[in-house]
Amino acid sequence: MTISSTLTSKLPSVGTTIFTRMSALAAEKGAINLSQGFPDFPPDARLLARASQAILTDNNQYSPMTGLPILRDAIASLVERHYGRKVNALSEITVTSGASEAIFDTIAALVHNGDEVILFDPAYDLYEPAVTLAGGVCKRVTLTAPNFRPDWQAFAELLTDKTRLILINTPHNPTGSCWLAEDLESLWRAIASRDIYLLSDEVYEFIHFGESAVSVHKHAELSKRSLVVSSFGKSFHLTGWKVGYVVAPAELTVELRKVHQFVSFCTATPLQQALGEHLTAEPEASTGLASFYRQKRDVLRGALASSRFKLLPCEGTYFQLLDYSAISDLDDVAFCEWLIDQVGVAAIPVSVFYQQAPRDQRIIRLCFAKEEITLLEAARRLSEL
Ligand SMILES: Cc1ncc(COP(=O)(O)O)c(C=O)c1O
Repeated sequence: MTISSTLTSKLPSVGTTIFTRMSALAAEKGAINLSQGFPDFPPDARLLARASQAILTDNNQYSPMTGLPILRDAIASLVERHYGRKVNALSEITVTSGASEAIFDTIAALVHNGDEVILFDPAYDLYEPAVTLAGGVCKRVTLTAPNFRPDWQAFAELLTDKTRLILINTPHNPTGSCWLAEDLESLWRAIASRDIYLLSDEVYEFIHFGESAVSVHKHAELSKRSLVVSSFGKSFHLTGWKVGYVVAPAELTVELRKVHQFVSFCTATPLQQALGEHLTAEPEASTGLASFYRQKRDVLRGALASSRFKLLPCEGTYFQLLDYSAISDLDDVAFCEWLIDQVGVAAIPVSVFYQQAPRDQRIIRLCFAKEEITLLEAARRLSEL
């Protein structure tokens, strides 16, 4: 008997993610890597010093399962300051190992066998495997370029008695679009009378280029049945720390924690300590993030303005979409491989975020969380096409 003859994969259609594949190819070919979404500049030195200090001063054992009190209190203040929402740090906030764990725990806690979960495609690649592992089934509303606005008629048609969870993400990866207050209102009207929960992935909450970001935290009714997920990785340029958190009403938090306590129990204690101290000492630390990234977005867009790429709107996140249909007929995966090989720039094909991408869509995603010099050199290479 061989293992392969008895092993039935629970995720047969999942392989290595496109981020791993494109980053590996970029490294192999020495290309500028604008594919995976991580900054190439350092986090705040004061936060790094606090983390070193936390390790050296004996903060190295398990933290409470729900997260260190200093961090949960700081998160409660942050949520109140930014969104005017008062949350109970003891019963409504849970610190997790990145937003990824938060999303995974939420889905595992709420989705029963045969339940339906509605996603908006293109969707972050973690959502569907987590739903599949929980025994659920994904239903998808397709968002289309250039504005990727939700179609509420199409959404309403997907609702059934089996719909248990809606998964939204704003500001949105990979499109850089942001929901409007009226979208949240339409969502609320559609699900108000049903027994449905909402998982709102708001990891790019501080990276939005309009007046203010729409958030479920600000929607009095929706927030009562939602789990809102955030990530310090995105807000403090620390993707490798993997510290995130979930804000949810107490009854939902109880269920979430039943999973969290067995998935990770707790998140790295010294990193929680450092973030707790940092947020307490520098409460405005995340407020400059939008203007910091707006400048990078504008540098990249300015440098590509006269290229043959068509720039799609970018209202938030650190991702810029480019339509390359004037340059090539290759599908987007083949085009990204060609770009790495021939142009020396790595990007992400947007079709991989769809179950079924719109036919003939020719769009790639660039990450602009990079030093200006890197963005300008990438744009110079792309402008030669
Ligand atoms: C939309 C979205 N959700 C969740 C995550 C995961 O965040 P974390 O690194 O904190 O697990 C990411 C990371 O890229 C993301 O883009």
